[in-house]
Amino acid sequence: MLEANAVYDQEGAALFAFHDLNYIPFGFSSDEAPYIETPIATMRAAATLMGLDNSSDAMAGEKTVVCDLGCGDGDLLISLLRHINTFKTATPSNAIDSPRPQATGVGIDYSPALIEAAILASEKQAVHVAWRIYDFNADLDDIVNQLLTVQHVTHVFVYLTPKQLALPTVHNILVGLCKGGVMVCCYKYHPLYLKAARSDKLMELVVFDASS
Ligand SMILES: C[S@@+](CC[C@H](N)C(=O)[O-])C[C@H]1O[C@@H](n2cnc3c(N)ncnc32)[C@H](O)[C@@H]1O
Repeated sequence: MLEANAVYDQEGAALFAFHDLNYIPFGFSSDEAPYIETPIATMRAAATLMGLDNSSDAMAGEKTVVCDLGCGDGDLLISLLRHINTFKTATPSNAIDSPRPQATGVGIDYSPALIEAAILASEKQAVHVAWRIYDFNADLDDIVNQLLTVQHVTHVFVYLTPKQLALPTVHNILVGLCKGGVMVCCYKYHPLYLKAARSDKLMELVVFDASS
C-alpha cells in the first residue's frame, strides 16, 4: 500500500529511503535520494569505537578499507578517511622507517547524482575512494562477496532506517560482513538480529563484529 507522505517513482517504488519515518531529525533532503548526514562528532566517535583513531603499533601494518553502505554525497566517508589518516600518518614513537598504509574507502549508494558529487569531492580532497552505484536493498550482485574478496573491506559504516535494516537482503549483507571478519558500525538504528560487540550510547553508535 502506498503511504500518503511518501514519494514514489512511476513503477510505484518509494524514492525516499526514509519514507517510513514521519520526521527528519536534521540534515537536508531532495526528491531524488534524500539523506541525512551524520554529524562530524559522531564520525569521530565512530572512528574511536572502531579503533581507527589510535596510532598504536597494532595498526601499523594493517591496510584499512572503510565502506560507507549508503554513502550519500560521500561527506561522511571522506571526513572519516581524512580523520583516521592523520593518525596513520603520525610517526609512532618507536618507528624508524615504517610508513603506515593510508586508509582507503568504498562508497556505495543507489543515487547516481550523489555518487557523482562524491567523486568530485574525493578528487578535490585527494582521498582515495572507490565509488559505486548499487542498490543493496535488491543486492543483485552479491555485494558481500565483492566487499570481502575484491575490495578487502575491513570496516563498514551504516546509517539506515530500522525498516531497511530488517530487509532480508540487508540482513544477509550485515551478517555476511560480520562473519567475514568485517567490523560494522551502525549509527542511530542497529540490526536487532546481531549482538553488539560494544557501543557508545551517548553517540548512538553500536559496533558488530565476528562475535556478533
Ligand atoms: C541516512 S543517509 C546516510 C548518509 C551517510 N552514510 C552519512 O552517514 O552521512 C542514507 C543513505 O543511504 C542511501 N540509500 C538508501 N537506501 C539505499 C539502497 N537501497 N541502496 C543504496 N543506497 C541506499 C541513501 O541514498 C542515502 O544517501
